[in-house]
Amino acid sequence: MFEKKYTKEELKEKFNIEMWSEDKIKAFQEILFDWYDQQEAEHDFPWRETKDPYAIWISEIMLQQTRTDTVIPYFERFLEAFPTIKDLAEAPEYKVLKMWEGLGYYSRARNLKEAAMQIMLHYDGVFPDTPKEMLKLKGIGPYTAGAISSMAFGLPTPAIDGNLMRVLSRLFEIDLDITKAKNRKVFETVALYLIDEERPGDFNQALMDLGRTVCTPKNYFPEMSPVKEFNASYINETWHKYPVKKAKNKPKPVTYVALVIQNEQGEYLLERRPEKGLLANMWQFPLINVEKIISDGTWKPFQPVILEDLDQEQQAFIEEYVQENYQVPVTIAPQTVGVVEHVFSHLKWTVSIYDGVKVDHILTGDLPENCVWVHPDDFDHYTFPTIQKKIWKNFIEITLF
Ligand code: ADE
Repeated sequence: MFEKKYTKEELKEKFNIEMWSEDKIKAFQEILFDWYDQQEAEHDFPWRETKDPYAIWISEIMLQQTRTDTVIPYFERFLEAFPTIKDLAEAPEYKVLKMWEGLGYYSRARNLKEAAMQIMLHYDGVFPDTPKEMLKLKGIGPYTAGAISSMAFGLPTPAIDGNLMRVLSRLFEIDLDITKAKNRKVFETVALYLIDEERPGDFNQALMDLGRTVCTPKNYFPEMSPVKEFNASYINETWHKYPVKKAKNKPKPVTYVALVIQNEQGEYLLERRPEKGLLANMWQFPLINVEKIISDGTWKPFQPVILEDLDQEQQAFIEEYVQENYQVPVTIAPQTVGVVEHVFSHLKWTVSIYDGVKVDHILTGDLPENCVWVHPDDFDHYTFPTIQKKIWKNFIEITLF
């Protein structure tokens, strides 16, 4: 599964990568480990105190896209709530999501639970000990399989993510686009030449630490690196060219109106999002795409719109929309209580918040099956994505104080 796809000669011929001699590789490993072992004393990541593949797996999934400082408390709470694979497999999905609340990329949490169920079903509850088997689990790709295999089982498997590709492309002046999946195998081959067979887990983590603290995407000072004399791009002063990366698409703006609607009992209308797609199954104050509300022809797709206030027509439209879709008669205030934003990887939401009250004494139909009235004291029982928490925080700050 992790095998060198190219000889040293092929690396040179095909990709212009000059792989080092065995002696140089040994010297690199020694200097890198000296630095890592010193660093280690300074920060004690809890996932480095265990060889339990389950705990390492959880940490690696959390660490994808999230900073180490943020991950530490989540990691500890998650393992306290679900100490074993069995506990995770048997937990209801909403509890797993609750423990994940605020970390984002919620499909990672759902996949963890599904993979735990796969392990119970196909591996008797024991985490598989080869990368080949790990790759069959939901949400585990080559990076995670390589990381767990090296850290928990001592296998010489590289863990190649964007971070490691940045480090390697600077060390060897690799002119390959790190965002292209087909180039992965080249980086993997380079890492396979470099990896220390005695301490593969530490080796991978040392490169990760280097990428996080020294060999950073921005504010990079190559002269500060403990391995600067191995760094071809530093020696040749080409480091500003690496890594090669095609321009990323900017997140597309999407604009919503959020409705914070209260009933006679002081409860608020909440809606569960659909089972599939962005923020699946999480709870929200009802959202209406602004495109639906602006009917005067001024709407342009992919331009953020802030709706400071509603004209009578827009107000009536929203009230009718709520009546039709939620069976709730409402009065909506025409002025926004605030605007919040949130950037997902591919979308940027701008949300104008409006408050409303349910009209008393009118016979109402049943709420749709995915909706409930909830008192704020009970919000803790519901999983809200960060954007919804921002909406609530903004709303109470403006209306209660
Ligand atoms: N980023 C991804 N995995 C990591 C690990 N094990 N330690 C520190 N940072 C990481």
